[in-house]
Amino acid sequence: MTDMEFQLSAIIKCSGSLTGISSQEQTDFVQSCNASLLKKGAPSGGGAEIVRWNIAGEKIELGLVSDRYVRVHDALLRLKNELAKFLGKHRIGLRGAEIEDYQILMDWDEDWQLKKLPFVKQINQEGGRLKLSLDVDEFALANRIPDRIIKLLEDKKEAAKWKGKSEHWELLFESEKKPYYFDKDPTEEMAKRGWIRHAAGRGQFIYGPQITKIFRAFERILFEEIFTPLGYEEMIFPKFVTWDVWKRSGHAKGIYPEAYYVCTPKTRDPEYWEEVMDYYKVTNEVPLDMIMERIENVGGMCYAQCPPSWVFWQGKTMPDDILPIKVFDRSGTSHRYESGGLHGIERLDEFHRVEIVWMGTKEQVIEHSKQLQAKYRLIFEAILDIEWREAWVTPWFMAQEGKAGLSELKEVGTTDYEAVLPYSGKLLEFQNVSVNGNKYPKGFSVKLQSGTELWSGCSGVGLERWAAVFLAQKGLDQDKWPVKFRDVVGELPEVFRFL
Ligand code: SER
Ligand code: ZN
Repeated sequence: MTDMEFQLSAIIKCSGSLTGISSQEQTDFVQSCNASLLKKGAPSGGGAEIVRWNIAGEKIELGLVSDRYVRVHDALLRLKNELAKFLGKHRIGLRGAEIEDYQILMDWDEDWQLKKLPFVKQINQEGGRLKLSLDVDEFALANRIPDRIIKLLEDKKEAAKWKGKSEHWELLFESEKKPYYFDKDPTEEMAKRGWIRHAAGRGQFIYGPQITKIFRAFERILFEEIFTPLGYEEMIFPKFVTWDVWKRSGHAKGIYPEAYYVCTPKTRDPEYWEEVMDYYKVTNEVPLDMIMERIENVGGMCYAQCPPSWVFWQGKTMPDDILPIKVFDRSGTSHRYESGGLHGIERLDEFHRVEIVWMGTKEQVIEHSKQLQAKYRLIFEAILDIEWREAWVTPWFMAQEGKAGLSELKEVGTTDYEAVLPYSGKLLEFQNVSVNGNKYPKGFSVKLQSGTELWSGCSGVGLERWAAVFLAQKGLDQDKWPVKFRDVVGELPEVFRFL
């Protein structure tokens, strides 16, 4: 049995009765097609073959089989052209083919089930073989739908290979159960109280004085518990990211469906833009089409936060004695094109994150990730008093590059922090700690004087995510909050009243 087999049954309709064609003539035609026409281009022994040929009035009942060369839909096309010539001699025309049955059989040792495929009415997957019954007409065959289904299967196989691995999740730590003081969605409750309001943009909020004060309290906690005691310094990372950065960071492999794209004018010559300005002035409509012609994409908005910072060290060599280096950035927003539908502050197109980056030798970087994790536990336990857990997962950069393969060694990778949102029962990933190995130093050519390999790590603290978890578990009323956190926050300002 060949690795791939195609079977087709079709009825070819003609413009007149075929009964006058002698059976010798028919046999000669079929034999000649089988000998050359349907084998052309295939390696010897391969190709297609007519296995059934019956004339019934004005119809030809046809059976074709093939291997992966001259697949039966190609064979049918070839055959129809040849047949048209043959029948022409008898002054009979071709009226088209009705596809009664189309089957693809192939080796298939995947352990996952195929559920649905376009143009496939039945999927049979057993004993290491896959059998697809297609629902196709002549038009679909001319459009090479069977070939595309096979390509689709290959893609799915490839995706499945990574998918199994992306499901990697391993519990590392689980806090004690904590009392929940709230069973509502904090976003809705904050909106009701006027702490936040949907901004004009998709997945974007305006944060009022109360929640802003809470965000700043989170940052103060980071300063007091992490940045000051662990010797961090603040930097300001760019928030517009060029393609060159994303090529080096690997994001260029898969960021496309989630990026916020940034464009610049092709020229800043006002004359070049005059038509656009005039159009707006007379219509009050922004002429997007005209704008699109006059701009070009140069990259995107900050997505993972740390990648553009690496340009600071790009191509440099550092003396070993300044290690480990510890810096953080809290200078702006990150942007991701999220799935549609209504989300609260836990899933945004524009969000705020404190990004923590450290570098050193492999040992220093791993050691520091442990220190950070200990500090985070302290914060969640003693200050925020939340219920959370920590899990070893597919590294964020691998997931974002679209290759969710896991590194075998447990040295490089991501620890995700997850907490339950009582109002939905769902778990939310609210921050991570990642050891990124030599990925960034290598991608941006950063070296150590001694020649020792430079490693780095990063950790993103999502302010909205921290708030989503804390408020979902503890509610918006400060008297239910842990005293330590209440003290860090202070009074919540009431600024606005509306009539
Ligand atoms: N850069 C990492 C991320 O995007 C950590 O913040 O998840
Ligand atoms: Zn990062």
